Amino acid sequence: LSGALKIAVAGLGTVGAGVLQLLERNGAVLRQRCGRDIRVTAVSARDRARDRGVNLRDVAWFDDAVAMAREADAEVVIELIGGSDGPARAVCEAAIGAGRHVVTANKALIAMHGTAIARMAEGAGVALGYEAAVAGGIPIIKALREGLAANNVTSLYGILNGTCNYILSAMRDSGREFADVLAEARTLGYAEADPGFDIDGVDAAHKLAILTSVAFGCEVDFDGVYIEGIRHVSAQDIAFATELGYRIKLLGIARRVDHGIEQRVHPCMVDEETPIAHVEGVFNAVVVEGDFVDSTVYQGRGAGAGPTASAVVADIVDIARGARIPTFAVPASALEKLPAAPMDRHRGAYYIRLMVVDRPGVFADVAAALRDEQVSMESILQRTRDPDGAVPVVMTTHDTEEAAMKRALARFAALDTVVEPPRMIRIESLMK
Ligand SMILES: NC(=O)c1ccc[n+]([C@@H]2O[C@H](COP(=O)([O-])OP(=O)(O)OC[C@H]3O[C@@H](n4cnc5c(N)ncnc54)[C@H](OP(=O)(O)O)[C@@H]3O)[C@@H](O)[C@H]2O)c1
Repeated sequence: LSGALKIAVAGLGTVGAGVLQLLERNGAVLRQRCGRDIRVTAVSARDRARDRGVNLRDVAWFDDAVAMAREADAEVVIELIGGSDGPARAVCEAAIGAGRHVVTANKALIAMHGTAIARMAEGAGVALGYEAAVAGGIPIIKALREGLAANNVTSLYGILNGTCNYILSAMRDSGREFADVLAEARTLGYAEADPGFDIDGVDAAHKLAILTSVAFGCEVDFDGVYIEGIRHVSAQDIAFATELGYRIKLLGIARRVDHGIEQRVHPCMVDEETPIAHVEGVFNAVVVEGDFVDSTVYQGRGAGAGPTASAVVADIVDIARGARIPTFAVPASALEKLPAAPMDRHRGAYYIRLMVVDRPGVFADVAAALRDEQVSMESILQRTRDPDGAVPVVMTTHDTEEAAMKRALARFAALDTVVEPPRMIRIESLMK
């Protein structure tokens, strides 16, 4: 561990430029903590002419990031290009093949190929750091792998996508509809031009799949995540949630159940007295419950140049110090293959909103469907009386199996007194 640690950086966009700026600005404290310098010796991006706001005079430039990963004068390759395949994956594999450590912020890559890449890295005796891939600046991978290493994790959940949390928070604050708030989020730069990965829950699912592996010692199984985004959450549902004492959050939730591992991302109603209910705007939060530690909560900025660079450089510091911890907390060769628990077998409480014509007998039909499917109702709300139009009927249920709930929903949808597709949001009962 003598001499400077030499690093090569592939990708100089938001995160890449942020990493270079951090290394420049915090060089002194990093030297003190690592006992050596961290020196950028090579970089690669597409456009050499673009000003990145950092000094690249003494740094080798590579047009080909994969060649850089193999050939640069560096012990560590930092992959900040993005994408689950293509150049990002090629860069990581080339670096490992050449015996170099890899640090990446790429959640899509780790969610899709994390187990295989970790096995390659551990086989080659190099580190694979990915702290920045989950919840931006929150050191949640470190917390799980190190701080909570003594616990069996009993439950893990979090707000893992800042764009969705911003939209849901703004909808609640303003009473406006989803499409309207999404358009505003785009102008403010909180949502991308193509926001699909965020609002449809895919980005949160990438992060959840990674967390699940670290928390439960299983292979990363992105395909095993049940995913539902926030497009269908309406201003009306948010208002009813408030009336019932809940907030609506897009959560990623992982739990070990008898028949495997349950991983799901979907809008949830959470009690307004839980810590996670108060995480608003672009912030992320993760709650980990362990058998000895009880409940622990981590909160911070989930994206942006600064927080993401903070996490990337923390991984580089570990390498500079010579610290080595198995990629997913247990050796990659020993990760278990756990079956994905099907969503139909999920048990929980549900919020249902039906739009019905206000006429006698409607309740009897609804109650009959619930009775036949053995769904037990906890409460029912009906506000407006409007003999000419549809009125909302809101119900909450006791714990029910999802398959039964779905059958009841199909029966509601088939009633001619129900004039819009029924809306369902799962109610999560969480530790306060
Ligand atoms: N932005 C965030 O807040 C955030 C947070 C957490 C994790 N991440 C992850 O960090 C990664 C980078 O994100 P970002 O926001 O920094 O993306 P970005 O701003 O789009 O930057 C991507 C960079 O990759 C370069 N690039 C693209 N194709 C390349 C190739 N074939 N060879 C070499 N360089 C190539 C681009 O070059 P040019 O600049 O020349 O076009 C650009 O500099 C992604 O995996 C993302 O998921 C981002």
